[in-house]
Amino acid sequence: MDKSEKIALFLGVCMLSLFFFAVLISAKVFKQDVPECITPDQIFTEGELVEIEPGKLYQLKYLSKMWAFEPAEVTIPVGSDVDIYLASQDVVHGFYLRGTNVNMMAVPGALNKKSMHFSKPGIYPIYCHEYCGTGHQFMKGKIIVTP
Ligand code: CUA
Repeated sequence: MDKSEKIALFLGVCMLSLFFFAVLISAKVFKQDVPECITPDQIFTEGELVEIEPGKLYQLKYLSKMWAFEPAEVTIPVGSDVDIYLASQDVVHGFYLRGTNVNMMAVPGALNKKSMHFSKPGIYPIYCHEYCGTGHQFMKGKIIVTP
């Protein structure tokens, strides 16, 4: 094996190790994970906020449709754990909760889930980040976290 091949192989192994180390740190230290995909027979037709344990645990069912999120605005107390479920009524939409790692796709016929702990009060805007038609830019919502 040529010396330059050995160097290239060594650098390749180093880069691969660095990549896996970065993924491990991201998952374990920064708690990054991927959205769960739920079985499609549980898809809902209306969006709603369900209080499981008052002040602590909520289910937030978001229905995406041209061109709104339902519910458009919800209010929860700080310190809440929220299971966010996302479905689409029509086409593919995006769902990005600004300032968090909640970033999902709303795909017709599929249901996605992501859990979030709201430790800071404030207004968390929601944006559709997938072009879904002429009203795409109006597709917004917000989660208000009260102290
Ligand atoms: Cu929904 Cu863009």
